[in-house]
Amino acid sequence: MSARKTEDAPTTATSGSLPRHVAIIMDGNGRWAKKRFMPRFMGHKAGVETVRAMVRHCAEKKIEVLTLFAFSSENWRRPEKEVRLLLELFVSALKREVKRLNENNVVLKIVGDRSAFPEALQQEIATAEATTSANTGLQLVIAANYGGRWDIVQATRALADEVATGRLESSQIDEESLDRHLSLYGMPEPDLFIRTGGEERVSNFLLWQLAYCEMYFTETLWPDFDGDAFDVALNSFSQRQRRFGRTGDQVEQEQNV
Ligand code: IPE
Ligand code: IPE
Ligand code: MG
Repeated sequence: MSARKTEDAPTTATSGSLPRHVAIIMDGNGRWAKKRFMPRFMGHKAGVETVRAMVRHCAEKKIEVLTLFAFSSENWRRPEKEVRLLLELFVSALKREVKRLNENNVVLKIVGDRSAFPEALQQEIATAEATTSANTGLQLVIAANYGGRWDIVQATRALADEVATGRLESSQIDEESLDRHLSLYGMPEPDLFIRTGGEERVSNFLLWQLAYCEMYFTETLWPDFDGDAFDVALNSFSQRQRRFGRTGDQVEQEQNV
């Protein structure tokens, strides 16, 4: 805990003390299982339970968006069996959870290159998104076969198409036009990034969108990350002063008017 008292602490310049959008790298499932002499897959299974709990916590706290990194573009490099089990777990969790998510007014969105997935999984994803699209509560974004570099490349390709077909001048390309084609377009930018499992790296998660995000790393392994651990992360976030390039004095003055 920081020595600074919470009530004295400057809060974020934009959003009060709670983040609007939390983005999480759910890491440490394999080590969690290994510690228990279980196959890695059991860690992934336990991790799904943590996802369920985290969705509940975010909905209760009225956080607007929760983005979870489930499978990276680089995770295909894992042993074939682990990849297959991960995809199967993804399909079964989708099938099982959609009804409950829908009842809880959650909007589900899957981001990433889904063209690499088996046809049945692509179908499952489309159905899940369609079922929940009219909801108005928490937006749950699952990043699957996602890479931050992939996202920027596919947005660039879309811009190039617009230029090639005369809908856009290359001189009109700016941050806003590129952003329009990125996977999280229309959502508030992530303002709290959490990575469990002790590694302090971004591993090709949201590269563009993390520009001004507050970073939080914890040793806790994902299956052990519970409501209390989440509260510690939220508390750390609430004590940070977000300056977005300005000075601390400027931010404080703005908050006092
Ligand atoms: C994260 O846990 C889940 C996925 C990448 C799918 P890991 O499987 O990376 O767990 P560790 O890092 O080996 O403990
Ligand atoms: C990042 O975790 C990807 C997901 C959590 C889905 P990894 O465990 O794959 O990351 P690295 O390889 O240790 O950087
Ligand atoms: Mg890992």
